[in-house]
Amino acid sequence: MPPRATAVLISGRGSNLQALIDAAATPGYPARIVRVISNVPDAGGLKRAEAAGIPTRVIDHRGFKGRAAFDAELHKALTADGVELVCLAGFMRLLTADFVEAWRDRLINIHPSLLPAFPGLDTHARALAAGVRFTGCTVHFVRPTMDEGPVIIQAAVPVLPDDDESRLATRVLAAEHRAYPFALDLVASGRARVVGERVEIDGMRAPAEPLFNPLP
Ligand code: GRF
Repeated sequence: MPPRATAVLISGRGSNLQALIDAAATPGYPARIVRVISNVPDAGGLKRAEAAGIPTRVIDHRGFKGRAAFDAELHKALTADGVELVCLAGFMRLLTADFVEAWRDRLINIHPSLLPAFPGLDTHARALAAGVRFTGCTVHFVRPTMDEGPVIIQAAVPVLPDDDESRLATRVLAAEHRAYPFALDLVASGRARVVGERVEIDGMRAPAEPLFNPLP
């Protein structure tokens, strides 16, 4: 099967985009990044895409009258490129239910916490304030409610005694860079499928053995 045509949507520095670009350059990887779209004209991730020879497009949300109009343009652009899968990678816009439904089970997101804990912003500060012993990251299929949807994979990261927001964020980000390419591999290869709003991997409700261990 040819690699699945994948678009990555960004708003910022694009370190997760970079992890996906690097993975997609590996022989046999089941996804090919055909387009990077940013809603922010000077997002750092655009340069990463250009350096990798991936076509980019800026769709500045400020030029649209509302979410529906912006999402319609986004949908048109993705369809024009023959995109099959969409990865949100630090894309800081809420998407309309219509858009999310149009891309149901073909739209994935990464979030820097073990969902359903700490959806939304400031996840690391909130994890520290809550005193949790582990946090981490989640790659999930997108549903209309923000940071909600069937979990593809998660990576747990311990909270260490000296952690502040920035130290914790750095360690979680390193886990994100391993988790996202792995999750996209599972989805693009057809190994991960949504069954009754849970993700089965290789037809099982949980992986037969740990998919990977983010701890050193
Ligand atoms: C990541 O922590 C991601 O989980 C969150 O936004 C951040 C984006 O970072 N959704 P980057 O742009 O991929 O470096």
